[in-house]
Amino acid sequence: MSNPSILILPGDGIGPEVMAEVAKIIDWFGAKRGKTFDVSEDLVGGAAYDVHGTPLHDDTMERAQNVDAVLLGAVGGPKYDSLDFSVKPERGLLRLRKEMDLFANLRPAQCFDALADFSSLKKDVVAGLDIMIVRELTSGIYFGEPRGIIHEGNERVGINTQRYTESEIARVARSAFELARKRSNRVCSMEKANVMESGVLWREVVTEVHQAEYADVELSHMYADAGAMQLCRWPKQFDVIVTDNLFGDMLSDAAAMLTGSLGMLPSASLGAPMANGRPKALYEPVHGSAPDIAGQGKANPIACILSFAMALRYSFDLGEDATRVEKAVEKVLADGLRTADLLGEEGVTPVTTGEMGDAIVTALDASL
Ligand code: IPM
Ligand code: MG
Repeated sequence: MSNPSILILPGDGIGPEVMAEVAKIIDWFGAKRGKTFDVSEDLVGGAAYDVHGTPLHDDTMERAQNVDAVLLGAVGGPKYDSLDFSVKPERGLLRLRKEMDLFANLRPAQCFDALADFSSLKKDVVAGLDIMIVRELTSGIYFGEPRGIIHEGNERVGINTQRYTESEIARVARSAFELARKRSNRVCSMEKANVMESGVLWREVVTEVHQAEYADVELSHMYADAGAMQLCRWPKQFDVIVTDNLFGDMLSDAAAMLTGSLGMLPSASLGAPMANGRPKALYEPVHGSAPDIAGQGKANPIACILSFAMALRYSFDLGEDATRVEKAVEKVLADGLRTADLLGEEGVTPVTTGEMGDAIVTALDASL
């Protein structure tokens, strides 16, 4: 059998730097675990725009459709702010999500013990936190039509449309229930059924899927604004949260911060199974391209490395190796190593992006 294939799209800002650390981990698996991946690399976002005049070349799209997993760094930067909307770096990422039909975006928020003091919330609120946000990723207001800026009388009107079909809601609900069964068996669904028809339908369909197929899972519902408040008040009440594209975008940034830094949070975007049984998949850190710190060795590579761990688990059926990577991250944090985003406590050791990657590789060696 041929090696599993990975397409790396480092993107912009700190993307290439954090991806360079992931490459070290991938190499480690080849050298030390006999798990070799066929890795290729291409451009996305501003980096692709600079070369091709588009944030995602058709050839790159085609390659992404034909690999076992895509690993993406980050896209965007001030250099591209004034570009037309249709060629902004973010459009490249959105096109990948849409055309690969990656409808289930898994965003775990886990608080490592070593960082519990670092959160802006009290330690007992976040210590041991382990929740999973499942964000719908291919529909809703991100993609709904009509959209645009139109002229009406003597002023401009900005329009976006929140739109969800039953089947779009049902399939992401199933993803959330399936995950919950492997965790603490609880799902909280968040919408704004008090003000939005799409929220009313969301609640109805999640409830129907639950009753028909997942009655063994505990299901609750919350308005998304109240959910945001509860995430800050007592996040450990949640296990799996399932929500739409826009609410999921915001709630996952809030949840990420509970864990101390946005630099810690990985994500997996999964679609339907391919012919080989693996899901269509793209893995990326939740953080953005952080252009202000790019190229200075300040970026935290952990979110991107943990995204690769998610690839091991969800694409390559290597759950034990995924745990091995997660434990290695835990170890270097427990040893006090901190990239720039995590400095502030007494007695920690500041490290660069590259030093953090090297330390994780060393911890992997020690795990054998
Ligand atoms: C995210 C990001 C993206 C989004 C941007 C970069 C398009 O914020 O993945 O959370 O809004 O989905
Ligand atoms: Mg976001």
